[in-house]
Amino acid sequence: MPALVLLGAQWGDEGKGKATDLLGGSVDYVVRYQGGNNAGHTVVVGDQKYALHLLPSGILSPGCTPVIGNGVVVDPSVLLSELSGLNERGVDTSKLLISGNAHIITPYNVTVDKVTERFLGKRKIGTTGRGIGPTYADKINRVGIRVQDLYDESILTQKVEAALDVKNQMLTKLFNRRAIGVEQVVEELLGYADKLAPYVSDTVLVLNQALEQDKVVLFEGGQGTLLDIDHGTYPFVTSSNPTAGGACTGSGVGPTKISRVIGILKAYTTRVGAGPFPTELFDEDGEALRRIGGERGVTTGRDRRCGWFDAVIARYATRVNGLTDFFLTKLDVLTGWEQIPVCVAYEIDGKRVEELPYSQTDFHHAKPVYEMLPGWSEDISRAKSFSDLPKNAQAYVKALEEMSGAPISAIGVGPGRTETIEINSFL
Ligand code: GDP
Ligand code: IMO
Ligand code: MG
Repeated sequence: MPALVLLGAQWGDEGKGKATDLLGGSVDYVVRYQGGNNAGHTVVVGDQKYALHLLPSGILSPGCTPVIGNGVVVDPSVLLSELSGLNERGVDTSKLLISGNAHIITPYNVTVDKVTERFLGKRKIGTTGRGIGPTYADKINRVGIRVQDLYDESILTQKVEAALDVKNQMLTKLFNRRAIGVEQVVEELLGYADKLAPYVSDTVLVLNQALEQDKVVLFEGGQGTLLDIDHGTYPFVTSSNPTAGGACTGSGVGPTKISRVIGILKAYTTRVGAGPFPTELFDEDGEALRRIGGERGVTTGRDRRCGWFDAVIARYATRVNGLTDFFLTKLDVLTGWEQIPVCVAYEIDGKRVEELPYSQTDFHHAKPVYEMLPGWSEDISRAKSFSDLPKNAQAYVKALEEMSGAPISAIGVGPGRTETIEINSFL
């Protein structure tokens, strides 16, 4: 079982941080392969709560080497402040490895993200404003700045010049903003070089050598399947591939090395930012899910939109990721409802549709077809095994498993590491 992938099966915030942390003690490497500090992963260890944005959640497990892969976009100032925040709390971060090929989120990428959103007005995506999209756009346009460029001032200057040539035209002529000076950007970026140097390495080589030595590597996705640039609800998506294939391109590890793909699945659904969401609730049930589930963004502090579980989406996640297992989280949040609606299919323009439509128009018209499942009122937060769960909670899990197309191998009944029911071992 050398390499496994753990990723979000919905629109993010499924509990990936908790799940990664749970496995962190038993794996040798935890690798972020895409995204950047748009992610907000919460890990609760005992009475300590950590919010991680860029660092892999394995950083909290002493034996584990955390890796930021080539597919990640790195804001150096955020990274350094996240590292020092953890150091102040006694967490050793010295093992961190950062790919020299990872792209850097520059200050102008953050500016472009914000002004673009403002310019889009009511058509905005609702990004996290962290410069993620513009940095990936620069990468694809071949005017990106990579971590390794910090160590060659001449190349760095030429690249910043090339990137700013067009951007300054856009900023001044279209967005009515001041031009950004090349020197000022280069100086800021060079200021990070020495601080990052101890971590920068050839992570592709390191990870492949580790796998040859039968070390266990866990890939931790950011965001979620429906936020994937190719397979998500485009254009209301992030600008990278959180789906399983992204683990390979974002790390330089081949698909033949990956033996397990675990989808983290919330027992209901949430979404942050704009875009379609068929099971979204605008009533007191949605408010109750938000309140009981603590559904507020870790990165931006925005309230998350909440809705019932959507099995069409779960089936889709199984398909596009080749999921071998699910980790069902936040089952405890559903305690207290007499009946729990679960979306089993959509009605689109009067027709019942079982699978996620590829057409954006159809998806915007999708109305949920609900099946009602009986709820439970007993506190489940101390359940240690599946049989500890009330019969109706067991039946809810079994029904979701049946509809979603992969076995549910673990269940979260609370935010803490130990508040987990393990059904099948992941390792
Ligand atoms: P991520 O982005 O996928 O890592 O998820 P977030 O950390 O943004 O959001 C998940 C939230 O749910 C965090 O506050 C977690 O501490 C919390 N959480 C994770 N699993 C469970 C669970 O099984 N039950 C409860 N009640 N909370 C959970
Ligand atoms: P984690 O890893 C939830 C959403 C934003 C926006 C869209 C594009 O914590 O699950 P971006 O800044 O990436 O260009 O914004 O994607 N988004 C997330 N939603 N959880 C996340 O990360 C997200 N990262 C980005 O809200 O709708
Ligand atoms: Mg999150």
